[in-house]
Amino acid sequence: MKRTHYAGAIRLEHAGERVVLQGWVNRRRDLGGLIFIDLRDREGMVQIVIDPDNSDVFQTAEKLRSEYVIEVTGTVRERPESQRSSKLASGATEVLAETLMILAESKTPPFQIDGSVDATEVNEDLRLKHRYLDLRRPEAAKPLHLRHKVMHAIHSFLNNQGFIQVETPLLTLSTPEGARDYVVPARQQAGAFYALPQSPQLFKQMLMMGGFDKYYQIARCFRDEDLRADRQPDFTQLDIEMSFVDQDDVLGLNENLMAHVIQETRGVTIPTTFPRISYDDAMNRYGSDKPDIRFAYELSDVSHVFSNTGFRGFSSALESGGVIKALLVDAAAAEPLSRKVLADVEAHAKVHGAKALAWLKRTGDGFSGPIAKFLSADEVTALMEVAPNVGDTLLLVADRWKVACEALGAVRLKLAADLGLIQDADAFAFLWVVDFPLLEKDEDTGAFTYMHHPFTRPRDEDLDRLESDPASVHAYAYDLVLNGNEVGGGSLRIYQLAMQERMFKALGFSAEEAQQRFGFFLDALAYGAPPHGGIAWGLDRLVMLLANASSLRDVIAFPKNQRGFDPLTSAPGILEDAQLEELHLSVVKDAS
Ligand code: AMO
Repeated sequence: MKRTHYAGAIRLEHAGERVVLQGWVNRRRDLGGLIFIDLRDREGMVQIVIDPDNSDVFQTAEKLRSEYVIEVTGTVRERPESQRSSKLASGATEVLAETLMILAESKTPPFQIDGSVDATEVNEDLRLKHRYLDLRRPEAAKPLHLRHKVMHAIHSFLNNQGFIQVETPLLTLSTPEGARDYVVPARQQAGAFYALPQSPQLFKQMLMMGGFDKYYQIARCFRDEDLRADRQPDFTQLDIEMSFVDQDDVLGLNENLMAHVIQETRGVTIPTTFPRISYDDAMNRYGSDKPDIRFAYELSDVSHVFSNTGFRGFSSALESGGVIKALLVDAAAAEPLSRKVLADVEAHAKVHGAKALAWLKRTGDGFSGPIAKFLSADEVTALMEVAPNVGDTLLLVADRWKVACEALGAVRLKLAADLGLIQDADAFAFLWVVDFPLLEKDEDTGAFTYMHHPFTRPRDEDLDRLESDPASVHAYAYDLVLNGNEVGGGSLRIYQLAMQERMFKALGFSAEEAQQRFGFFLDALAYGAPPHGGIAWGLDRLVMLLANASSLRDVIAFPKNQRGFDPLTSAPGILEDAQLEELHLSVVKDAS
């Protein structure tokens, strides 16, 4: 290569060296006869000085505009103390140009990328439409550098542990991970469709059956679901599967792998054992199956206090099998909540499923607030133990267990943000949520469906209740949580055919349906499958958190926007009639 250095890597130690640099004009400034160019490349920027005495170079420099691609030959020199720039890592130096060549001109970019305007002020779709320009900003490129480092650390760790990387098909049959499939019409078979994998779940299990006892893959997955800041329609998992392991083996490997990744990418040493909490405890204490444990504020159950309550809102919830959960906002930790904050908190609880949120403020001899008049003396005494200090506020939700927990869990997170309860934003609060229920009841239909996927193994001690009391069966299933975000999930798998058939039955699949959808997999299970289990990390999510980014879009080179649209390529696109015909498709135009 002609280039000798990255512009952004020039330092004082290079003073006196002759260098060849290639990159983009970040900005050109004409000052008192001299021209200064900020030359930008992947690693950052350096200042180029053009001396008017060098007239050829000066004339070329006068033509330069932002984003022109140039090549500069020159000598690195130390800047006088007074002229150093603290904004640039190369700021103690500059390069005096000897030759200057324009390699490519550029139109005026549709938005400023020279650092003079905060990128968050630029419309995101415009940035994504010209993502190649956006990525020239060092802040936009940085998460992708980090992502590379994360993947590199994963590859080297797993390789050292004897894992084998295997790729699995993208054109396949539907995998049940709970979202809608993206489908691809098959030209050679009219009316038939491939599905893009929601995960490599069944293939990795069949690799275990094929004898690959330690597999991994950095795998692309596709899910047609409602998009949020932490979801993309196509995303990346670190997918792992292991044979002849128990749950502790899988968790232990992941703890060590994660510690290695954090060490290599952030230079931080974290403990290699993460706390474990059961799903039931996580919901009861934090109102979430992915609790943020960087701050306390635990929920409590105050149903027993209200067993004889005269307040209809509470008694009706209890009569229909619900609970009353409370969140204490401690007077010592926060200013008393204003009416406005309380109204916001109630609105937030409602968005998260609660019918209402009641509050009680602790006074010297009891409680004030809209429902205080309904409290009996015994209830006041009992509640004084929950809220012991004058100024304490109790936020209460009476509802079905899950709704009450989740609504107050959402309030807990809102308060953490509003009251600044998370002191150490750089903390890595990992934990495992374990012992998930195997099945979840659909409140509308009353039917049971799987909580993770139908290949998750029920806990041995719960097995005999699978048919009689399915709701009480727990699974060898675990989620990996970081600072309140689910960054991974996995389980031990069913590895015996009879058990898998029993599971399909519990899920309400007839033998024919199970055979039709998963016949190939049931066949495979009939030929001696090893006990196995694994996990998948949401790689984009992990990188997002390590990069302190607020959206997955920031850590993906070419992401879709919130509507699943790619402003760069304009995908998804309309097909020509001829192509539709070839695929045996006709599109029903929406009349509306
Ligand atoms: P699960 O469905 O929990 O498990 O997915 C694993 C992890 O992938 C991430 N994730 C996503 N990231 C970005 N956009 C999305 N739309 C998205 N959906 C999920 C999450 C999640 O924790 N086959 C199982 C794993 C196993 O059992 O081994 C699976 O896919 O961080």
